[in-house]
Amino acid sequence: MYEKLGAAAKHISTYKEAPPRVGIILGSGLGAFVDSVEDQIHVPYSDIPHFRDCTVEGHQGRLILGKVSGVDVAILQGRLHAYEGLPMEEVVFPTRVLATLGVEKLVLTNAAGGINQSFIPGDIVIIDDHINMMAANPLIGPNINELGPRFPDMTQAYNPELRAAIKSAASDINYDIKSGVYAGVLGPTYETPAEVKMLGICGADMVGMSTVPESIAANHLGIQVVGLSCITNMAAGISKGKLDHSEVKEQALKVMKTFSDLLIASIGKF
Ligand code: HPA
Repeated sequence: MYEKLGAAAKHISTYKEAPPRVGIILGSGLGAFVDSVEDQIHVPYSDIPHFRDCTVEGHQGRLILGKVSGVDVAILQGRLHAYEGLPMEEVVFPTRVLATLGVEKLVLTNAAGGINQSFIPGDIVIIDDHINMMAANPLIGPNINELGPRFPDMTQAYNPELRAAIKSAASDINYDIKSGVYAGVLGPTYETPAEVKMLGICGADMVGMSTVPESIAANHLGIQVVGLSCITNMAAGISKGKLDHSEVKEQALKVMKTFSDLLIASIGKF
């Protein structure tokens, strides 16, 4: 694993001399953020040693190197999910490659279903904390000591300074940002109304099928993590209608301008 990370990072670093400082993983339907990136260099996942290509609609499979607010960034446009049938180790491989490249701060973004009744579709929400409901963990197995400790602390899994930076950036662009707890489920089914009710009672404000594995792997690596959920729909049973992936992608596209403005302003403050 450790050698594979080195090989992948070595390939990517041939594209650009300056190492990225901030990594960004784009969630479902949020790929259009790359239009806001300056001096873009595209690296297809299929060209990177040991990288898996994406199988999910709404996720391109490429890494973008460039600048946002003058900061060197590496963006994963397209993420891997455990529900694709991948072992967790593969799901977090790209996150670990970002760290190997030199990324110190990681922005995880996702599409999520709103559980908190004060949320509405289109809201962008700062992730304060997560609940791992995936019954899996990317760190299961022998610990890779070169990457991090056996028992990583998760008390501040979502870095308070980076969360404050996003709050301040939101205020600068006059966006009234909310925050909440993200429950990560395995998928690929959307939840039942009973599951959503349970997640709400357990303290979750939103639910999605990603982010938790990458957050765990990044915390293990000692990278500072921050997360943004785009509420694309109210979770099952809270909204009356049925859930559908095209609705998720459509809603994500609608908030793209605000999402991009917020991310650009935030990265300038990291
Ligand atoms: N549940 C799980 N994942 C999701 C949802 C949802 O309602 N919306 C977008 N991703």
